[in-house]
Amino acid sequence: MTQPIHRYPPINSRLPHFIHGADYNPEQWADMPEVWDRDVEMMKQTGCNTMTVGVFSWVSLEPEEGVFTFGWLDTIMDKLASAGIFAVLATPSGARPAWMDRKYPEINRVGGDRHRNLHGMRQNHCMTSPVYREKCRIMNTALAQRYGNHPALSIWHVSNEYSGECHCDLCQNAFRSWLKGRYGDSLDALNKAWWTTFWSHTYTAWEQIESPSPRGERLLHGLSLDWRRYTVDQTVDFFKAEAAPLRAITPTVPVTVNMMGTHYFCDYSRFAPLVDVIANDLYPSWHQDGSDMDTAAGAAFVHDLMRSLKGGQPFMLMESTPSIVNWSNVCPLKRPGMHRLSSLQAVAHGSDTVQYFQWRKSRGASEKFHGAVVDHVGHANTRVFKDVAEVGAILGKLDAVVGTAVPAETAIFFDWENWWALEEAKFLHKDKKYVETCFAHHRPFWEAGVPTDVITEDADFSKYKLLVAPMLYMVRPGVAERIEQFVAGGGTFVATYVSGQVDQTDLCFLGGFPGPLRRVLGVWVEEDDALPDGRFNELIPLPGNALGLEKSYALTEIFEISHVDTAKVLATYGKDFYAGTPALTVNALGKGRSYYIAARSEKAFLCDFYSALIRQLGLKRAIEAALPTGVSAQIRTDGRNKFLFIMNFQPTAKTIDLGRCVYVDLISGLEVSGDIELAGYGSRVLKRAD
Ligand code: GLA
Ligand code: ZN
Repeated sequence: MTQPIHRYPPINSRLPHFIHGADYNPEQWADMPEVWDRDVEMMKQTGCNTMTVGVFSWVSLEPEEGVFTFGWLDTIMDKLASAGIFAVLATPSGARPAWMDRKYPEINRVGGDRHRNLHGMRQNHCMTSPVYREKCRIMNTALAQRYGNHPALSIWHVSNEYSGECHCDLCQNAFRSWLKGRYGDSLDALNKAWWTTFWSHTYTAWEQIESPSPRGERLLHGLSLDWRRYTVDQTVDFFKAEAAPLRAITPTVPVTVNMMGTHYFCDYSRFAPLVDVIANDLYPSWHQDGSDMDTAAGAAFVHDLMRSLKGGQPFMLMESTPSIVNWSNVCPLKRPGMHRLSSLQAVAHGSDTVQYFQWRKSRGASEKFHGAVVDHVGHANTRVFKDVAEVGAILGKLDAVVGTAVPAETAIFFDWENWWALEEAKFLHKDKKYVETCFAHHRPFWEAGVPTDVITEDADFSKYKLLVAPMLYMVRPGVAERIEQFVAGGGTFVATYVSGQVDQTDLCFLGGFPGPLRRVLGVWVEEDDALPDGRFNELIPLPGNALGLEKSYALTEIFEISHVDTAKVLATYGKDFYAGTPALTVNALGKGRSYYIAARSEKAFLCDFYSALIRQLGLKRAIEAALPTGVSAQIRTDGRNKFLFIMNFQPTAKTIDLGRCVYVDLISGLEVSGDIELAGYGSRVLKRAD
């Protein structure tokens, strides 16, 4: 079993505190230099200690080809340093100057329809273009040489939210080379892997292969899946090229990219080993139609995913909004308490930073009404500014939490390749709801205050007691064997409907589903049924079942009809022609066991099922007492001290029973125990020494 790490070094060794800061674009105010000094003063008032500069600054750094104007950035870096503020320095590749796109049109991205984009927007570059790679190399080299020894430099922020795809000729060739590498130069192997005899799609020369297109091939699943993989690999390769001069010139400065949570196109597990710290941008939609609890549960999942990407190492909340976003259909303000709550939620799940987009509202262009620490009014006397200053003051009291770990004994699978394959697959329901299903299986743990990691199929399973794999449709080579080993060694594994159906190239497993998971689950799935909204089946627990389930539960949407090989039935279907067949089974293997849930269920089933597992496996909870609905408890630890975050995502006050343990409230400094009250959207950080 892998020994857990309890304390990680701070992201920046010169700053052993929480990082608090924002995206800062002083170049927009270059003709009002008094704004710069006022900004630095106000940063100090908010307890901001790190500003992100240079994102999208290319035209201000190189207004003409080969003419570099670093003067303004020198001034800003110096001003920050003299105020004791650090800089997250970005490379500007997320958007380009118009001169560059005019002179080198090959840089502009080509869409799936094979039309080349015009200049504009951002993340609009070809990831293959040698010209753009060279331009980035020159720029990043210049930045690293100029600021490598600057006292303000703390972290490199490479580009901004890498995403998307390019279908230009350069990329088509790069895709073909990538495929040659993957299939050992064998077109025959590729044709077999993609099952191309179907519809006469067999390729007889590499040049015939084209990326998927709305005007051409878009249903060859193996092709689509490999295109997604190639696109991520090419983006990662572009990132590596961007990072190379930074790594060479400033080897001790950490490098990161800002991610976008569960973004469909970006398999962030491919980036994770290449960055020094994970950074994420998250804008939960508080106060929208759904409840804030739903939003909080979703945000918790994403934070857990980000922390797990580097095996539990604290991550950066690189962007969040201090008040509103401007891109949602409706943009509600954060209600009082919500900014502190939302920020502390990230910290509770393992973030060592609270950073914002953006420091100051721009005066023009598309984000002029996006929330910012400093509003157009320009002074500090605003609700949002005070909210941010409050968070700054709180973070200032949490030094002991920096670098601490989240002690997760449970992990939920969330796997991009599996998601892509499911999205492409034409069966059951058009919307497979993969992400929602992962959220649904994570939520009972969140509600119970059980720390949970979110991992891909390739992660190390050895540190967990419980592994949950919702809709593990694709099982890549070696994964089933690793799961078997985990179970045989005493672990508990949970799988659901739509598992073990295809291999890594999207070919169906022969010999019965769930394919390579058959042995560990001990069932054979014969058929998959799907019903439209509003039609239900029922899960009926068998009397005296080992989990103590007693109620019946509604089942919806997807229902698998299965036979037990070695498993035991815990519950059966209540209706339809498959009434009485297994709906929930358990299978013993070695020292452990595996559960198989045959159908999608109402929330109450997952809640009761996982509560039973939490009890039986003795999974540690943040606090022992039951939590009121809407209150989340999360824990970080350095192995000795426990830092308990209690957060109320309801607008009404709630009482929480801390039991007889005595805690110190790190914000007020007072000792607390027994019942404590949390105001609507209230949040507390408590410390307990064991
Ligand atoms: C993203 C970008 C930022 C900004 C925000 C707005 O996260 O990285 O530049 O556009 O969205 O919410
Ligand atoms: Zn391209």
